[in-house]
Amino acid sequence: MTQDTPSKLSPLRVLGIAGSLRTGSYNRALLHAAQELAPQGMQIATFDLALISPYNADVEAAGWPEPVAALHAAIREADALLFATPEYNHSIPGVLKNALDWASRPPDDCPLHDKPAAIMGASTGAIGTARAQMHLRIVCATVNMFTLNRPEILVSRAQDKFDAQGRLTDEVTRRFLARFLQALLEWALRFK
Ligand SMILES: Cc1cc2nc3c(=O)[nH]c(=O)nc-3n(C[C@H](O)[C@H](O)[C@H](O)COP(=O)(O)O)c2cc1C
Repeated sequence: MTQDTPSKLSPLRVLGIAGSLRTGSYNRALLHAAQELAPQGMQIATFDLALISPYNADVEAAGWPEPVAALHAAIREADALLFATPEYNHSIPGVLKNALDWASRPPDDCPLHDKPAAIMGASTGAIGTARAQMHLRIVCATVNMFTLNRPEILVSRAQDKFDAQGRLTDEVTRRFLARFLQALLEWALRFK
């Protein structure tokens, strides 16, 4: 009998979340590039945060809004998360922090607990979301997620690396992204 690897038996299900709502977002585009470059044994779906309302404990007490319930379900079903975060004022955008705040509830049955994850980001600045990624790592650690430490992927001067259709055209970044996704696959399989 031959022995199949776990990745052959059932693909690793990754949920990609971009911290930007705009149509032409480089971070959404980075997630699309990740879908294109995903290694064998990995499937990447995405979740759009546009319908996630601002966190409000009164709303939570009355029952989760449907988009929040959908976010919870998508996270729960995923084997790993893949964040693509912009950098806003040296930190993560409010839409991403807000989604993580909703997803962290309730603390004793939080779908983020023990979830492996990887962080990437694209910005138009010169240091490619380095500060936002550090802040996101702190949030992930707080909810007991296991974040891939390296390699890191920081896409600086994103306007030079994607074309007008949002395709990642920079060959060095594409090769690096492929290596990063392979590292996420190996990392996440440790937790399966
Ligand atoms: C409110 C705001 C704050 C920003 N702050 C930073 C920043 O601190 N560092 C940086 O590199 N880029 C910053 N930018 C530029 C973003 O990197 C750029 O808008 C990027 O394209 C946003 O990601 P997106 O394309 O996925 O929407 C900021 C943009 C906005 C709108």
